[in-house]
Amino acid sequence: MSDNRMGFGVVGCGLVSQFHGAAIMNSEMADLIAATDLDEARLSEFVGQWGGEEAESFEAVLEDDRIDVVNILTPNAMHADFAIPALEAGKHVIVEKPPEMKLTRTDDMIAAAEENDRKLAICLQVHFRESIRAMKNAVEEGRFGKLLEGDAYMKWFRDTSYYLMDDWRGKREQGAGVTIQHAFHYIDLLHHLVGPVKVVDARMTNLAHPDVQLEDTLKAFLYFENGAEGLVEASTALWPGRPPRIEVNGENGTAITEGEVMLAWDFREARPEDQDILAIGRDTIAAGGTGAADLSYEEHMWLIEDMVEAIEQDRDPYVTAQSARHTLEIALAMYQSADAGEPVELPLESDSVF
Ligand SMILES: NC(=O)c1ccc[n+]([C@@H]2O[C@H](COP(=O)([O-])OP(=O)(O)OC[C@H]3O[C@@H](n4cnc5c(N)ncnc54)[C@H](O)[C@@H]3O)[C@@H](O)[C@H]2O)c1
Repeated sequence: MSDNRMGFGVVGCGLVSQFHGAAIMNSEMADLIAATDLDEARLSEFVGQWGGEEAESFEAVLEDDRIDVVNILTPNAMHADFAIPALEAGKHVIVEKPPEMKLTRTDDMIAAAEENDRKLAICLQVHFRESIRAMKNAVEEGRFGKLLEGDAYMKWFRDTSYYLMDDWRGKREQGAGVTIQHAFHYIDLLHHLVGPVKVVDARMTNLAHPDVQLEDTLKAFLYFENGAEGLVEASTALWPGRPPRIEVNGENGTAITEGEVMLAWDFREARPEDQDILAIGRDTIAAGGTGAADLSYEEHMWLIEDMVEAIEQDRDPYVTAQSARHTLEIALAMYQSADAGEPVELPLESDSVF
């Protein structure tokens, strides 16, 4: 663990900011220095609950020398507008998922990090979930043998008021919709665990939100570069909502997690540690199924602490922007595929979807 604490600034004090506030407050490696938001009521509520100062503006956050890392928590299509100036001002940056709504704007953020020699991480905190780390280790150790299948089932519920809460939540081009906004984490986990994707074939529908012009349900086949296949079923129409399930199958093993809980952990060659791995998550933590507040802050805290260590050790953060860029490309390909009604091959020729 780090000896020094690093200073954090927060841009955007909406729904997700409570997890960042709690994560920074509970970490022994981070201090909350200041936050900013155009909405003064949200800003003062955030600072009142989690500490730090109310910064007058985004520029004031950039000018504050006590701040090492800036967390960008604005709506999806506005991430680069804040991340690039922050990187150019010498700050390290954590950007909430998805990295952006366009590959070109993601590339601009990656270039700004490289040119300014700063760290850039995307907040895909589920990578740090204990069950997912166990699966990733098993993949890296080759325990599955040849990977054959990777599936994600996210059967969640959000009522219509969720979509009407903020203007951007109902607009596809600003990053709304179950694919880019909610399933992104689990599409990303399949990429993380099984590998890069070559072809997607997706269909989208609106099952239960007639007042919203968005897909609330996604079904997609994935064809991975390594020959494995996969399925994503994601919805915010399915009351009351369950923790998401991730399944990985290889020629020598099967692992299944539901939220934090490891449901299945079977390998042809058993190891002594397998019983402990199978017991992961019996004190289950919240995993987002039933509402936007149905999450725990610990995974955000681990991602924030990984950023502190990445800076100190001058290494890449565990969740790089380059890796999240490929997940964005998969998600954009899903929209293109659903619009065209046919499979789409990666890399995409164009990132204009919306
Ligand atoms: N990692 C996760 O599990 C997770 C969960 C929820 C949301 N998110 C992501 O977090 C981001 C924010 O989502 P949210 O639900 O908190 O949205 P939100 O709309 O509740 O909050 C966004 C905040 O940004 C502020 N903002 C907008 N423009 C600004 C500006 N120019 N300067 C300062 N502040 C400005 C808004 O006033 C608002 O308070 C999105 O990218 C979303 O996808 C991630």
